[in-house]
Amino acid sequence: MTKAEHRGSAWGKLILFGEHAVVYGHPAMAAAVDLRTVVCLRSRPGPVSLAGGGEPDSALSEVLHRILPRGGATVEIRSQLPVGRGMGSSAALSVALVRAAAAREGEALDAHEVYARSLALEAVFHGNPSGVDNTVAAGGGAVLFSRSRSVEPQRVALTPLPLVILDSGSSGNTRALVEGVRARRPAIDPLLARMGTLAEQAAKRADRPSDWGPLLDENHRLLIQIGVSTERLDALVAFARRHGSPGAKLSGAGGGGVVMALAPPEGTGPLVQRARREGILASSVRVPAHGIPSHALPRGASGTGAPSG
Ligand code: PMV
Repeated sequence: MTKAEHRGSAWGKLILFGEHAVVYGHPAMAAAVDLRTVVCLRSRPGPVSLAGGGEPDSALSEVLHRILPRGGATVEIRSQLPVGRGMGSSAALSVALVRAAAAREGEALDAHEVYARSLALEAVFHGNPSGVDNTVAAGGGAVLFSRSRSVEPQRVALTPLPLVILDSGSSGNTRALVEGVRARRPAIDPLLARMGTLAEQAAKRADRPSDWGPLLDENHRLLIQIGVSTERLDALVAFARRHGSPGAKLSGAGGGGVVMALAPPEGTGPLVQRARREGILASSVRVPAHGIPSHALPRGASGTGAPSG
């Protein structure tokens, strides 16, 4: 009897350094976080539908049509990731869908193929993504990523990194923000180059991420200067810094989304509690050193394990 249910899963991510700069070929550092999206495909005759009966928006509808062109399934999507907050929810969904559909077809995909197929889906959501989100969603762990075809993603061996996430409560429009940055070039090119340098410097200090404070602060200031931060994000960065975080920045495209703050020396708990008392949506996430099993990195770099659902 054929199996009627197939699953795929993928991790969310944070861009630690270099968002936007990565679009123009500079390096960025990103890491998987211990929050994930799981897709479950249940075979059923007829067109594709969402479990629970919701209507997919036009982008999701297009993505589902591409991944399941012959229909015949109900799609259940369960995610621990906040949607549209710069934590890689769409890349995680793309990767989880690719894995679930491959499982359904009995196909064994390597990480490169998962990456390539998921990037085509991510393009439906975001236009022309750099690929950093999908590299981490498909490969897990932490990477120094460059868009250049000749530079393979380099795995970064991070010391476990506890972070506090402060959510602005609103979403940015990645496509519009990327276009806004493009329109400000070439005047802002030196700022983008500097962000790439910060990513490289941080990678060299991956054994002591608690020392990243000044690098994160500078990266946030640069993001303000290229026009992608908001008053709310700046206030959240200032809040984290006032309450003991050694450094903080927005993460992702900006315009909303989240701020990531290094945990104060006493840990994430007090900062999260304090933020919640002030009505800020706050949580802690871990960027585990080796805690998240991962596929081999796309495009040939090395890795271990697999987060298939
Ligand atoms: O907000 P997110 O998670 O979609 O991240 C976007 C990251 C950018 O560097 C702004 C765009 C990209 O394609 O890398």
